Amino acid sequence: MNRIKTLNEYSESYAKSIQNRDAFWSEIAHSFQWRKPWSSVCEGSMEAGSYSWFNAGELNITENLLDKHLTEKGNQVALIWEPNEPSVDFRKFTYNELHNEVCLVAEMLRSMGVRKGDRVCIYMSMVPELVFSVLACARIGAVHSVIFGGFSAKSIADRVDDAEADFVITMDGGLRGNKTIPLKAVVDEALTSTRKIKNVLVYNYLNLPTEKKEIDVDWNELKARVLSNNDYIKPGETMQSEDPLFILYTSGSTGKPKGVVHSTAGYMVWTAYTFLNVFQYQEGDIHFCTADIGWITGHSYLIYGPLLNGSTSLMFEGIPTFPDAGRFWDIVAKHKVSIFYTAPTAIRSLMSAGDEFLEGKNLTSLRILGSVGEPINEEAWNWYNEKIGKGHCPIVDTFWQTETGGIMISSLAGVTPSKPVFATLPLPGVQPVLLNEQGQEILENETTGNLCFAQPWPGMIRTTYGDHARCVMNYFSAYPGYYFTGDGAYRDSNGMYRLTGRVDDVLNVSGHRIGTAEVENAINHTPGVIESAVVGYPHDIKGQGIFAFVICDPHHHLEDHEQIQAITKTVSEQIGAIAKPDKIVLVSGLPKTRSGKIMRRILRKIAEGEFDAIGDTTTLLDPSVVQEIMAKAK
Ligand code: WT7
Repeated sequence: MNRIKTLNEYSESYAKSIQNRDAFWSEIAHSFQWRKPWSSVCEGSMEAGSYSWFNAGELNITENLLDKHLTEKGNQVALIWEPNEPSVDFRKFTYNELHNEVCLVAEMLRSMGVRKGDRVCIYMSMVPELVFSVLACARIGAVHSVIFGGFSAKSIADRVDDAEADFVITMDGGLRGNKTIPLKAVVDEALTSTRKIKNVLVYNYLNLPTEKKEIDVDWNELKARVLSNNDYIKPGETMQSEDPLFILYTSGSTGKPKGVVHSTAGYMVWTAYTFLNVFQYQEGDIHFCTADIGWITGHSYLIYGPLLNGSTSLMFEGIPTFPDAGRFWDIVAKHKVSIFYTAPTAIRSLMSAGDEFLEGKNLTSLRILGSVGEPINEEAWNWYNEKIGKGHCPIVDTFWQTETGGIMISSLAGVTPSKPVFATLPLPGVQPVLLNEQGQEILENETTGNLCFAQPWPGMIRTTYGDHARCVMNYFSAYPGYYFTGDGAYRDSNGMYRLTGRVDDVLNVSGHRIGTAEVENAINHTPGVIESAVVGYPHDIKGQGIFAFVICDPHHHLEDHEQIQAITKTVSEQIGAIAKPDKIVLVSGLPKTRSGKIMRRILRKIAEGEFDAIGDTTTLLDPSVVQEIMAKAK
C-alpha cells in the first residue's frame, strides 16, 4: 500500500476514488494477504442500507496484522504497555511475541469451545491481555464485543443479551488512577439476569478476592494447560470478507444502544489505509493512541490500523491525570512517541491543569498530533499546537464515528492543508454532502447543512446486530440515497468541513457518546420519579455536560437533595458513571406542546443559561412552567 505523500497525489487519489471507485479499492486491497481473491469489489445500495465489499474473498485479519510481519519485523516491537503506576515496569511485545500470545489465547478459547461466529463479550481494563483477547477472537473467527470497563452491570447485561453472547472474558479487577475497578464482580452481577452463558474466562491480574462460579474458567490455569500441550501456533480460521469481525455498542437517539456490526475485509482495508495516510505512518514510528479499547478509536487506531501497518502501538493503562497532569508527557518522553492521538476533552483538562506539568518534559520525539471524538475549540487547538507540538507538528482533527469504522474527514498530516477547528477534507473514497431539511443537496460553499455521505466506503457499518431495519432507519432513511451521520457541518469557501455538533438527541460528553433518551430512561427508574427530560449544555472541559429536568411525585417523601442523590445513583447503576447528570433540577412540569411533545429547544436555552433567548412560549400547554424552571435552573 502506497502512502499519499503530496497534495497532488491526494487530489489524484481522491478523483480516482470517486470516478473509479472499485478499481481504486481493488488496487489497495491487493497489498493484503488473501486466501482467496474477491470476485467483486462493492455491491449493494444506500436504499437497502446494505453493502458488501470484496465479495467472495477469504482471509484472516490477524494474519494480516501478525503473521505477515514476522519475516521482516518479527523482532520489532508491536505493542508497548505503559502501566497505571509509573513505578511498575512497562511491558513490550515484539511481533513474534504478540503472535505467540494471540495464538495461545486463541487456542485457550478453542479449548473452551468458542467457535467461528460465536459472540464473545469482553469486559476488561487496559492490559495487554485485552489486546490478546480481541485478536484471539479474530483469529478463530469469533465476533468480539468489547464493553467499556466503566459501564454498569445493567449495561453489560443488555449487551450480552442483545449480542446473544455465549462467552465473556473478564478479569478480577482493573486499575484507573487511584481506583480499583472490580470487573469480575460487576460481570457476576450482570450475569444474574442474562441469557445462559457457557463460560466466563477470568484473567487474574490483581489477586482480588472473587467468587468462583461454576462457569468460570481461570485464565492462568487454562493457559498452563494449553502451553503444556505445546501445540497452539495455528493458522487463523478462514473468514469470508463479509463475516462479522466485531460488534460495538453505541448510543443513538433512542433509549437502547445499538450493536454496530463491522465486517472483516472492509474494516481491515479501511483502518489500515486511513491510519497510513492520516498519520503519515513511517517505519519506526511509535504511535500512542490514548483511547480506551472499549471505544471505536481504540479498536481502529490502537489495535487494527497500527498493527496492520506493522507499526509500534503504545497502550496506556491509566488516566491522563495520574499521578499528575504531566503523565502523558512523561510517557511521550519515556517511549519516544512520534504520533500522539487524543481527545479534546483530555487536551482541555491538561491545559486547565497548568503549564507547569509540561516543564522539563522532552517532547522532541513528537512528529504528528491527532484529535478525535468531538469538536476541538480554538483555545485547545492553539495550546496543543504551541505547547505540545511546539508549532512544528501537524495536527489532524479526525472526524468519524463508530459506524464509519475509521476516519472520514481529516487532513493528511503535513500533506493536505490544515485549518484550526476544521476537520478539513474527505479521505479518498469519502464523498461528503450537505443536505438541507428538505433533503436537497446544498451545492454552494460557506454554508451549513446536515452531513451525509453519498458513496459507500469499505469500513462502513454493515448492520445493527439482530435488527437490520433499525440500521436502515437510523442511517439510511432520513435522506434516501445517503448515509446520514447525525452531525451538522459547515463548509468553507475552499470546501473544507467544520463539524458543528449533533443534530439529533445524542450528546458528546468527554468524547463519549450518550443518548438523551438513554439517560432519561435511567433517571425514570429512580423511585419517585415521574418524568424527565435531558439536554446537553456547553461544558468547559467535557465539551458537553448533561442537564436533567425531573418531575417527582410529591407524595414520595424525600428531601430534594436526597432525591437528586438517588437519581445520580440510579443513572450510575443503569448505565455507568459516565452518564451521571452534571446538573439536576426538580421541577413540577416540563414545557410541552398541546400534543404533549417536550420542547427541548426551550430546555436547551435554559440549560445554557440563555434565558433571554427562549423565544415564543405561547404554543405551550402551560407557559408558566417556563418561569418556574428558569428560577430553579439559575
Ligand atoms: C460522534 C461519533 C470518532 C471516534 C470516536 C467517537 C463526534 C467525532 C469529531 C471531530 C467534531 C467529532 C461527532 C460524531 N465527533 N469526531 N473530529 N470533530 N466532532 O466516536 O462515539 O461514535 O461518536 O463524535 O458528533 O457523530 P463515536
